[in-house]
Amino acid sequence: MTGFCAYAQMPDKLAFMTGKHQDGGGVSFDAVIDVKNVSKRFGGLRAVNDCSLRVERGSITGLIGPNGAGKSTLFNLVAGNITPDSGQIIFDGQDVTGLKPHQLFHRGMLRTFQIAHEFSNMTAVENLMMVPSGQPGESLFRTWLTPGTVKDADRHVRQKALDVIDFLKLGHVKNELAGNLSGGQKKLLELGRTMMVDAKVVLLDEVAAGVNRTLLQDLAANIERMNQELGYTFFVIEHDMDLIGRLCDPVIVMAQGEKIAEGQMEEIRANPEIIEAYFGAPAEAVA
Ligand SMILES: Nc1ncnc2c1ncn2[C@@H]1O[C@H](COP(=O)(O)OP(=O)(O)OP(=O)(O)O)[C@@H](O)[C@H]1O
Ligand SMILES: [Mg+2]
Repeated sequence: MTGFCAYAQMPDKLAFMTGKHQDGGGVSFDAVIDVKNVSKRFGGLRAVNDCSLRVERGSITGLIGPNGAGKSTLFNLVAGNITPDSGQIIFDGQDVTGLKPHQLFHRGMLRTFQIAHEFSNMTAVENLMMVPSGQPGESLFRTWLTPGTVKDADRHVRQKALDVIDFLKLGHVKNELAGNLSGGQKKLLELGRTMMVDAKVVLLDEVAAGVNRTLLQDLAANIERMNQELGYTFFVIEHDMDLIGRLCDPVIVMAQGEKIAEGQMEEIRANPEIIEAYFGAPAEAVA
């Protein structure tokens, strides 16, 4: 619990680029997300059924399973887009069941969204600058009291955006309109948006869909760097098993609304029962 408080308070422009363990260093193995016996029905359909799983702080945890397994519904529950019928969602040691996405956002839980249409006429840097909330400029009261603060904050946000652009190696397109970026560059920019706030956990739902192989490698490399160098925890839904295998440890398998297995991708791939029963294909088809 100490991690986030220290994290959010850091004023330095590179605060977001420092490690995950503000609370004294060393790798900790506590759950940052703890889903406890959560269920969600849509009419008669049990989309998520008494599901329990944990995402360890500092991990890149994968979530795989057949179409309709309940993966996106689980993300929606964790991110506060929908409320569970029963069960609890613990985030960073606190019960956040029923909290709204913006409340979770302020606590450091983010999911990526496609760059909104109306932002396509803004440059890459400007897109990033739109993200932070709770800047001094947003408070009329504070503006009135301390006009200089707004200017400082603008400069601070711009510098942060440029740092993020550099980190993602998008410097050559920083002043390009977002609408003109390639599909993969847009994905990188989406990832960059999560770096503009002090996120602890980033949920990625099929972020690689439609991205070509080369840019996929860039995207994966950046996820790894954000994890290893900046301490982000990722919870990743993907159908691309190679990507999951490269990035994720552990991998959680969901089917029919339940967690049915968890382990390293090699273990999952080596388990013909899981492959055949839940992917409906012989093991070599997904290997
Ligand atoms: N808002 C909703 N209303 C009704 N049914 C829904 C709703 N959202 C999801 N479902 C149903 O819940 C089940 C789980 O869907 P979900 O989208 O979570 O699966 P998924 O594992 O993400 O699948 P995919 O890999 O295809 O994205 C499906 O049968 C789906 O049709
Ligand atoms: Mg889905």
